[in-house]
Amino acid sequence: MFEEYPKQVILKDGQEVIFRLLRTTDFQALMDFFGRIPEEERWYAKHDLADERLVREWVDHIDLERAVPVVAEVEERLVAQAVLHRHDYGCTSHIGRIRIMVDPEYRGKRLGTWIMFDIINLGVSLGLEKLEARFAAGPEEAAIRGCRKLDFYEAAVLPRYVKSLDGDYHDQIIMIKRLHAGWDDF
Ligand SMILES: CC(C)(COP(=O)(O)OP(=O)(O)OC[C@H]1O[C@@H](n2cnc3c(N)ncnc32)[C@H](O)[C@@H]1OP(=O)(O)O)[C@@H](O)C(=O)NCCC(=O)NCCS
Repeated sequence: MFEEYPKQVILKDGQEVIFRLLRTTDFQALMDFFGRIPEEERWYAKHDLADERLVREWVDHIDLERAVPVVAEVEERLVAQAVLHRHDYGCTSHIGRIRIMVDPEYRGKRLGTWIMFDIINLGVSLGLEKLEARFAAGPEEAAIRGCRKLDFYEAAVLPRYVKSLDGDYHDQIIMIKRLHAGWDDF
């Protein structure tokens, strides 16, 4: 499964993108990528993506048992990132949690869809039964619509649960996709 990387993907406009696993040497490229994501979007990540120490810690301690970070690269520039998180023990070990982010300049070209397909495929290969993604209703509407198209369903809504940078409350939507062993989305 991990040996499938790197792989090539062609975007809607014909541009070639390489999907591969994040490497320790990606520190600066990853900082640059996060720097191109507007702060009001980074705000919905669990951690401060502008924090160099934190990003350094991630790239130095990549643990594929816990989190599989897939990046999309165009001429040494990272243009998207998707992470599949999982627990190696306990009642949620059959569930993967995903986060994705696409460089604003590369949006609307199906890159988000392709990297999501890739993560779904990875989840199937890893034997996961479900994928979960959490979104802020409103600010993350594009991702919600994209996930619906990939058969994620809205499993729960936590009303007025998360807060925007401006202090406004938004519902948190928990979306789930069921995976089937031996089946893939491609
Ligand atoms: C959500 C995100 C990953 C989409 O990336 P993308 O490469 O532009 O996505 P795609 O081009 O593959 O579009 C996939 C679908 O998403 C939806 N979508 C994408 N951009 C949208 C927008 N601005 N408004 C509404 N829907 C949108 C559409 O349903 C689209 O399908 P369509 O092209 O058939 O209409 C990107 O906008 C992003 O990184 N947003 C900020 C971070 C974020 O919200 N991450 C989600 C947290 S898990």
